[in-house]
Amino acid sequence: MKAGKRGVAIVGTGLIARFHAQAVKASEKVELVAAVDIAKDRVEKFAAEFGCRAFSDLDAALAGGDVGLVTVATPSGAHDEAVLAAARHRVPVLVEKPLTITSERCERLIAACRETGTPLGGILQTRFSEDFLKAKRVIDSGELGRITFAKAEVPWWREDSYYAGSWHGTWAMDGGGALINQAIHLVDWLVALMPPVEEVKAFCATLAHPMETEDTAAAVIRFRGGALGSIYATTASFPGSGKRLEIHGTKGTYTWDDQKTGVSRPDQLEYAGHLACIEAFVDSLEGGKPYPIDGEEAKRTIDLITAIYKEAGSERR
Ligand SMILES: NC(=O)c1ccc[n+]([C@@H]2O[C@H](COP(=O)([O-])OP(=O)(O)OC[C@H]3O[C@@H](n4cnc5c(N)ncnc54)[C@H](O)[C@@H]3O)[C@@H](O)[C@H]2O)c1
Repeated sequence: MKAGKRGVAIVGTGLIARFHAQAVKASEKVELVAAVDIAKDRVEKFAAEFGCRAFSDLDAALAGGDVGLVTVATPSGAHDEAVLAAARHRVPVLVEKPLTITSERCERLIAACRETGTPLGGILQTRFSEDFLKAKRVIDSGELGRITFAKAEVPWWREDSYYAGSWHGTWAMDGGGALINQAIHLVDWLVALMPPVEEVKAFCATLAHPMETEDTAAAVIRFRGGALGSIYATTASFPGSGKRLEIHGTKGTYTWDDQKTGVSRPDQLEYAGHLACIEAFVDSLEGGKPYPIDGEEAKRTIDLITAIYKEAGSERR
């Protein structure tokens, strides 16, 4: 490992792990030293491509002593075991969205990290985007007057093949469907931009895909201070259109949409957001300002998602 660079282990070597690896490669602060996956062929191929060692088990990767940061990119329901292993080894850990799949499980991870003094952060990379920061500036400035309504819409489409034989859309590994997987970034914006949520009413339905969890979720929210809001999250809106946020107030309305049309594809992401998360987290470890999405902050988004599923009567383990 090069002097001055922090060694990184990536757990899970599927789709999003490639963006972790590209971000690590682009950063002067970190270097990829290990990749971990239960799928032997996949992890070996990944390690050969990105130039690091391959492991089938995170404990073994951490025993080497050269890992100073773990990033977690396993299916959402498998995040816990990686975070708990990192906490056992007291190695800082940055976890893909969602931190884990229920509020209760988030609490367990936060407690394990707190007890061992292990820094814990969430990857919700769109919080670092100029679009989010602009929305926050506008809302915090007060120029919209009294905020009366906030609306988040993610009207996407996924083919059946996305769900068939996959962990996607399962309670055990995805923790839900369109809401927790596809809509989480915009739900996270609502949580970050609006006052705390006081009450939720919601419906979830499975309308267009043979899947265990919802492909359509609708929720209305009452925020502290009285403003209302709504969330529409779906993978059943063909051909799909852009994410949209509206914040309405007595002196103005802020609207944002991601200008996308047609089917949204997860492999069309860019690594810049992940680079921002990794560098901000590393800075916080090295005496810089606190990482803005620590375990507690990442949990707030899961708290709202958990409340919506509970209110909709959705079956969760
Ligand atoms: N930040 C984003 O915008 C974004 C986008 C896509 C996915 N994600 C998140 O990233 C995570 C992974 O999603 P993905 O699309 O890359 O999934 P994927 O199925 O492509 O890859 C998951 C990998 O984890 C491996 N794995 C499964 N269980 C494991 C375990 N117990 N230990 C080690 N490896 C294990 C699998 O073999 C697979 O290689 C999910 O939590 C998802 O929500 C985030």
